[in-house]
Amino acid sequence: MRKKVTKAIFPVAGLGTRFLPATKSVPKEIMTLVDRPLVQYAIDECRAAGIKEFIFVTSRGKGALEDYFDVAPTLEQELQKKDKTELLEILKATNMDSGEIAYIRQHKALGLGHAIWCARRLVGDEPFAVVLPDDVIAAEKPCLQQMVEAYEETGGNMVAAMEVPTEKTKSYGVLDVDEDMGSIVKVKGMVEKPEPEDAPSNLAVIGRYILSPQIFENLNQKKTGAGGEIQLTDAIAEEIGKDDGGVYGFRFRGQRFDCGSKSGFLQATVAFGLARDELRDDLEGYLTELMASRKAAE
Ligand code: G1P
Repeated sequence: MRKKVTKAIFPVAGLGTRFLPATKSVPKEIMTLVDRPLVQYAIDECRAAGIKEFIFVTSRGKGALEDYFDVAPTLEQELQKKDKTELLEILKATNMDSGEIAYIRQHKALGLGHAIWCARRLVGDEPFAVVLPDDVIAAEKPCLQQMVEAYEETGGNMVAAMEVPTEKTKSYGVLDVDEDMGSIVKVKGMVEKPEPEDAPSNLAVIGRYILSPQIFENLNQKKTGAGGEIQLTDAIAEEIGKDDGGVYGFRFRGQRFDCGSKSGFLQATVAFGLARDELRDDLEGYLTELMASRKAAE
């Protein structure tokens, strides 16, 4: 029997400079898609996948993130008094039990691999998930749940994967495919942010991972890679071909939004708005009108 994946690491130490000035005081992960912070989507996805412990790797200035997951007794009492049961339920669903969530600081911005390594003692000797909240994935069955099911078959290490336009490879970790089995691919190489001409394929790593604890050992060597940073991609690549490990890519079913970019964030806002029953008609009406008037003005 494989050990169950019950812990997830959320690397959220980044400064979010692409969203300045907003991120001057609001951590990027709390920015909202419709009415929920980005990070809430990631937590909900993890819960659906059976994750029980949430480990945030943070940095200075992320206090609002910790407050978000705290209970809000005054607010709850107010809602109770006013009989706003629906809102109360929404609020309660965001609460974390004590001991369910942990925060650890990354003291230096040395790269994604280093951020994950910071959580090593909290994970210990068991497989774990890594979720990058910037990558928001709309899916019928949440992406991490799909991956946990696939991982039960493969074991080893698994990364979410998606085909991207060739000119975009330099924004991603890119997989060199050994065997393509459809939704699961066996990997024989991984390169972090290659130029299109150096990319082994256009199958890119998206921010969901299920990793073996051996990754921490690999990260312990503190080798620097692309951009002079300690790369998670490189630590995973070291596991390729190992008998007790191996690396697999998983083509998830769903739509991924790059909420680390303004354009991706806006697209996600529209898509998640349209997915909400109470907003759909209004928003759709507005968008149709807007497009028609832009066309007429051309
Ligand atoms: C990180 C990883 C990269 C991965 C990407 C997915 O890059 O290093 O391998 O493809 O996330 O979003 P970042 O976007 O943090 O530069």
